[in-house]
Amino acid sequence: MKPIRSIALAGFLGLSAMNAVHAEEVSIEKDPHSYAQPDKVRVTALDLDLSVAFDKHVLSGAATLTLNWRDKNACELVLDTRDLAISKIESEDATGKWSDARYTLDKPDALLGSALRIALPAQPRQVRIAYATNPDAAGLQWLDPAQTAGKKFPFVYSQSESIAGRSWIPLQDTPGVRFSYTAHIHTPKELRAVMSARFLTGSDGARHALDGDFRFAMPEKIPSYLLALAIGDIAVKETGPRSAVYAEPETVAAAAKEFEDVEKMIVTTERLYGPYRWERYDILVLPPSFPYGGMENPRLTFATPTVIAGDKSLVSVIAHELAHSWSGNLVTNAAWRHVWLNEGFTTYVQGRIVEAVYGKQQSDEEFLVAANELRKAFASAPAGEQILVPDLNGKDADDSLSDVPYTKGSWFLQTLEHRFGREQFDAFLRGYFDHFAFQSITTEQFVAYLKANLLDKYPGKFSEAEVNAWLHDPGIPADAPLPSSARFAEQDKLRERFVARKLDAKGLDGRGWSTQEWQYFLDRLPPKLGTAQMQDLDAVYHLTGTHNAEVAFRWYRLAIGSDYTIAFPAMREHMIRIGRRILVVPLYEALAKTPEGKRLAAQIYAEAKPGYHPMTRGAVEKALEKK
Ligand code: BES
Ligand code: ZN
Repeated sequence: MKPIRSIALAGFLGLSAMNAVHAEEVSIEKDPHSYAQPDKVRVTALDLDLSVAFDKHVLSGAATLTLNWRDKNACELVLDTRDLAISKIESEDATGKWSDARYTLDKPDALLGSALRIALPAQPRQVRIAYATNPDAAGLQWLDPAQTAGKKFPFVYSQSESIAGRSWIPLQDTPGVRFSYTAHIHTPKELRAVMSARFLTGSDGARHALDGDFRFAMPEKIPSYLLALAIGDIAVKETGPRSAVYAEPETVAAAAKEFEDVEKMIVTTERLYGPYRWERYDILVLPPSFPYGGMENPRLTFATPTVIAGDKSLVSVIAHELAHSWSGNLVTNAAWRHVWLNEGFTTYVQGRIVEAVYGKQQSDEEFLVAANELRKAFASAPAGEQILVPDLNGKDADDSLSDVPYTKGSWFLQTLEHRFGREQFDAFLRGYFDHFAFQSITTEQFVAYLKANLLDKYPGKFSEAEVNAWLHDPGIPADAPLPSSARFAEQDKLRERFVARKLDAKGLDGRGWSTQEWQYFLDRLPPKLGTAQMQDLDAVYHLTGTHNAEVAFRWYRLAIGSDYTIAFPAMREHMIRIGRRILVVPLYEALAKTPEGKRLAAQIYAEAKPGYHPMTRGAVEKALEKK
């Protein structure tokens, strides 16, 4: 980093210019979701050596951490753990000799897990922790062969964001600390291990060899929530010069077809925001229980198979995860209350990628669907839940996850783009990614950069008061721009006539509608329709049993509201097959509103539970507990 910038940053943080050496040197905002004390000592590198026992649902081995001591009086390393069984901790002295270290494991906290306190009076360069995971580790999902597409082999995968990394690796589990990593993973011979890292097993051919022994290296410094591992019967198909799809053999061809535009997406984003800095961009398609649409694990996005609609209509999820290679993986939120810096920026960049590769109509429609959802949510959400930068003290880190950081965050950036013009705003954003590359930052750091590099550079266009309103006030500023869509406007008219029964299903002429048009239509119908109209829609458009997961979700939500029981067997099958949280939990919530619905929900859940990720389970159980 150039000195002039450090001085500006140091001044902003209230440090004297004399103290400012490097951005990495400045103190890290206290993260309420970690016990780590990065101002005393920081982990700079991790080496993992893990074996997998599918019969016991356990990963076991050792994590070796390289330390950078920052406080010469510090004599303790505090790590985050959750349900880990620690068997031995050693530290390395100056002569390279390893000896046992004393440690204690605090009583677990429901939200944070257990602090692991290691006494290290000599401030060693490295410590090694031998440990095993718990079969119920929050960050791992173990699948029996029956829960995979192939039905022959078991599967395990991690999901570390936000704070579940600590359930499979003892770490400073805060996004404010970044480190490089290497790993050696031992698996049954017939299976493949993949990680969010460079695959080290030889040249390209050998990269894909199966011998039960896999090595990885992530040379760039990443935050802990981007550590990722999956092991299973995983095949590979190249999709471009620096991209491939990994998936069960049953799924890999369809996935490669659906994601064939990935190289185009990378080139587009590079043109906008500078070089792709992670060498490869591969995608791992998980079994249907994967709880998210996608997860931006660096070099290897994890994705739900529900994005494979067959017509690329849901690939914006991939554009989103790719976008994180800049917003999030390169410039990271320093703590979870700043998650909009990850997700809002990414949603904005996602829109730009979709616009460039699939056209403005597509990106506008996707944004309008999201904006409509946010408006609906804000109509009934308490003011405190409408804030872009919330106070998360004492709260679950994942409480920050709603439409707010995504849609309100990207809407804010769209507003800036609108006001300053694309050319200026693109240059600003590119500079921002460059300036903060491989750093973890706070909203306040973003605001200081915004002020210096955009607001003050083109004065009179956007005030600081407006910035503060976006960040800290509820609602959406009245002048926030919205794209217009002729097709959605036309649909508004058709829908109104349909609701008023002046038009039947056929008269809607929906055969040519895109996935987004169907989403918009179903989202804006009243929550309850009469059986005759439901039957009419279903007969003409075959919505019950649709393979498009986003359309299915909205149709079944409407079916529940309308007590359209004809759709329930297909809905049940859908809810048992997929575990993507945002697509199933709201259906349980809708069912739980009536006593009969709640009974049905409980029956469905009993069958679905073994296939759901621990996180989806938690959310469904919460929905079913409510009276
Ligand atoms: N990083 C998120 C997923 C996530 C966020 C996991 C917070 C755990 C905690 C990922 O990039 C994401 O946003 N996924 C979305 C994709 C969509 C917005 C296109 C999802 O899973 O639905
Ligand atoms: Zn995201």
